[in-house]
Amino acid sequence: MNWNFTDILTPPDKPFGTDGPVIVEIGFGNGEYLEHLARTRQGCTVVGIEISRWCVTKAARRALSAGFRNVRLIHGDARGLLRYAFEPRSVSGAYMNFPCPWPKRRHTERRVTSPRFAALIGGRLAQGAAFTLATDVEWYAEQTREAFLSNGCFSAGPVERNPEREYVTKYERKWREMGRETFVTRAVKMAEVPESDTGKEGEETLDIEADPDIERLSLSDRLRPVLGESIRKDGYVVIFKELFTSGGDAALISVITSDEDFEQHYYIKVVLSGSRWMGKLDSIGHPYRTPGVRASMRALSKIAGIEF
Ligand SMILES: C[S@@+](CC[C@H](N)C(=O)[O-])C[C@H]1O[C@@H](n2cnc3c(N)ncnc32)[C@H](O)[C@@H]1O
Repeated sequence: MNWNFTDILTPPDKPFGTDGPVIVEIGFGNGEYLEHLARTRQGCTVVGIEISRWCVTKAARRALSAGFRNVRLIHGDARGLLRYAFEPRSVSGAYMNFPCPWPKRRHTERRVTSPRFAALIGGRLAQGAAFTLATDVEWYAEQTREAFLSNGCFSAGPVERNPEREYVTKYERKWREMGRETFVTRAVKMAEVPESDTGKEGEETLDIEADPDIERLSLSDRLRPVLGESIRKDGYVVIFKELFTSGGDAALISVITSDEDFEQHYYIKVVLSGSRWMGKLDSIGHPYRTPGVRASMRALSKIAGIEF
C-alpha cells in the first residue's frame, strides 16, 4: 500500500495552536493513545511529538488507516519542539504516557520532565489546561509533580495510584495483568510562566563584514563569504554548510542550526525577483523559525544583501 504522509507530517506555516485548540501527546510510541485522543477530541488538532522516526511512521499509518483528519505528527525532541512549534498559551491539554524514567544519575539530563520542562510547557499551555503524566515508576511520578510545583505556576494534587484511566492501551493492560501499577501526576496551569523562562533572542555580532561593493557582485560571490562560517550566541549556533547555484539567478544554501540542542537542517532558497535578491526558507526541510533560523536569515541579509 502507498501511504501519503504529506498532510500528517508537514508542519504548518504558522505554529500549531494559531488556528484553534491543540492537544499534545509527547512520546506516543505506536500511537494507540494518540488515536484515542483523536477520536475523543474531534474539535481539536491532536499533535503527537515523538523522537523515534519508526514510531512516527507507525503512528502515521495508524492515523491514516483510521481516517483521522485532526492528527499531526512531529518527529523530534519534545523539549525543543514545544518551544518552537506551538503558539504560546494555545495547548488545551498535554499527555505523556510511560516515558523512560532514566533512573541512573548520569542519565538525569535525558529525563523529559524537569523544572525546565515545566517552565517550557507552562508557556504553551492555556490557563487551566493540564499536563498529565502516567508512569509505572512511583518516584518518577513524584519527581515530576515536584518539578511542576517548584515552577510556582501549577497546582497538582497528590500522585494517584492506579486511578481510573480514560483509556488503557494494550501496553498498560498487559502491564497491569502482570501486577504492575500505574501512577498519575496531573499538573494544572494556574498562572502565567514568566517570559524569561520561555526563550531568548537578540542581535548577534558577525565576524564577517559585508562587501561595500555588494551590489556589483554575482549571487554566488555574495553568498560565498558565509560558507563554513558559524554564528554562536547564547542559546543557538548557526553553520552555513554548502552552496548550490543554478544559472546565476538562483541558489540554495544549506544551513544547520542548533537551538539549545534542538538541531535543524534546512535550505534557504535565493532567487532574483526584478532587481532584488529574495530569500525564502525552502520547503524541503520545513524548519521551525527558531532564534537560530531567524539569525541565519538576518546574517544573509547583512552580508549578502538578501531580502526576506
Ligand atoms: C516507553 S515508550 C512509551 C510509548 C507510549 N507512550 C506508550 O505508552 O506505549 C517512550 C516513548 O517516548 C519517546 N521519547 C523519549 N524521549 C522523547 C523526547 N525527548 N521527545 C519525544 N519523544 C520521546 C520514545 O521514543 C518512546 O517512543
